[in-house]
Amino acid sequence: MTQVAGDAAGSEAVAASQAGPASQAEAASQAEAPRPLRVGIIGAGNIARNHVKGYTAAGAQVVAIADTNPLTLETRAAEWSVRHTFGDFRDLLALPGLDAVSICTPNAAHHAPTLAAAAAGIDVLCEKPISLSLTEADEMIAACREAGVVLQVDHHLRSNRAVARARQMIQSGELGRLTFVRLRQAHDWSGAAEVPPGFRMRSLAGGGTLLDNGCHLFDLARYLGGPVAEVFCRTATLKFDIELEDTAAVSLLFESGALGEIETAWTATGWDQGFWVNGTKGALEYSERSGRPILRHVYRDPGNITWDDPQAESWQTPAGSDHSLAVASFLAAVQGTGPIVCSGEDGRDAVRLALASYDSAALGLPVSIPN
Ligand SMILES: NC(=O)c1ccc[n+]([C@@H]2O[C@H](COP(=O)([O-])OP(=O)(O)OC[C@H]3O[C@@H](n4cnc5c(N)ncnc54)[C@H](O)[C@@H]3O)[C@@H](O)[C@H]2O)c1
Repeated sequence: MTQVAGDAAGSEAVAASQAGPASQAEAASQAEAPRPLRVGIIGAGNIARNHVKGYTAAGAQVVAIADTNPLTLETRAAEWSVRHTFGDFRDLLALPGLDAVSICTPNAAHHAPTLAAAAAGIDVLCEKPISLSLTEADEMIAACREAGVVLQVDHHLRSNRAVARARQMIQSGELGRLTFVRLRQAHDWSGAAEVPPGFRMRSLAGGGTLLDNGCHLFDLARYLGGPVAEVFCRTATLKFDIELEDTAAVSLLFESGALGEIETAWTATGWDQGFWVNGTKGALEYSERSGRPILRHVYRDPGNITWDDPQAESWQTPAGSDHSLAVASFLAAVQGTGPIVCSGEDGRDAVRLALASYDSAALGLPVSIPN
C-alpha cells in the first residue's frame, strides 16, 4: 500500500485557521458551499480514463486510485494528479471522507470491490458486465440495498442522446407498434494484433464479445424494445487465436411479439456501433460508422404510396459524451437529485440474457427467458 500523507481538504482548513479576519469571512462563505464529492477509482486502466473525465467535468474530485499494477498506479496518479494511491482496493475504501467509487477492474473483479464498498457505505458505479454470474449479481444488489448505497451499472448507452430520443419516440407511440430492433456493437481492437489479456482470458473476462459488447446491447434491447422472451444465438471464433468467441449473433423474440437481432464482433473493421428500430409507423436509424453520428427518422406521410422517397428527418448527436453523461447521472443519484439510470437489476438482466445466449449457442436451440 502506498498512501501519500496529507490531504487537500486538510491543508485548506489549516490555511484558513491561520488567516486574518477578511480571509476568515471568505472561508466562512466557502464553508457554506457544498463541498465537491470525493471519488475513488478501483482499476485505473483504459475505461477509468472516461470515468475520471466525467467526474472532472461534473466538478467531483478524484482523490484516490487503486490498482494491482504498480506501474499503472504511478502513471495514472501523475496523469490525473491523484494524491492517494493503493495496491489494494480495501485500503482505498478505508480512506476517510470518500463518497463514491468507480469499479473499473476486469469483469471477474467487480464483485469483491462492490461488496466491500457497500460494507464501507460508499456508493458504487460498477463497470459492465455487472458480474459473471447471476449469483454474484444478486449478492452485489443485496449488499448495496442493505447498506443503502447507490449501485449504478455503466451501461453508458442509456446516456447516449440518440438512444434517449429513440426511447422517447418509441414510448410516445410515434413509431407505432415495434416490429424489429437491430443492435450492433463491433470493432477490431483498433487494429491491434491481439485481444487485451483482460478480455481474451476466460478467467478474467468470463466471455468474449457476446458478453463484453453484448451486455450493452442486451440492456439496450430491453431499454428500447421491452422484455425479451427468447434468445437464439450463434457464436464463432474467426480471427483471433483465443479461447473465447470473437463474433456472435443473437436472434431475439420480445414479449411484445417484435423480433430483433444483436450483432457483436471483435472482427469488424474499425468502430461500428448502431441501432435500427422499426415500427408500423416509422423507423429509426442510428450509426456511428461515419464518425458523425446521425439519428434518422424515416416515415411515410398518408397518401405517399410510392416505393421510394419516404419522408425523413435527422439529428446530429454529439459523439463521445455518453460516459460523461453516465457519470454525471451517477453523481446526481449519489446526491439524491436524480434517478439511478441503470440499476444493479438492469445490469443483472443484461447478464442473464448473455448467459442464456451462451446456453442457446451450446445447445443449438432457442432458450426461453422466464419473466
Ligand atoms: N462501459 C464501457 O463501454 C466499457 C468499455 C471498456 C471496458 N469496460 C469494462 O471496464 C472494465 C475494465 O476494462 P478496461 O478496458 O479498463 O481494462 P484494463 O485492463 O485496461 O484495466 C483494468 C485495470 O484493473 C486493474 N486491476 C485488475 N484487478 C484488480 C484488482 N483486484 N484491484 C484493483 N485493480 C485491479 C488492472 O491492473 C488494470 O489496470 C471491464 O469490466 C470492462 O468490461 C467498459
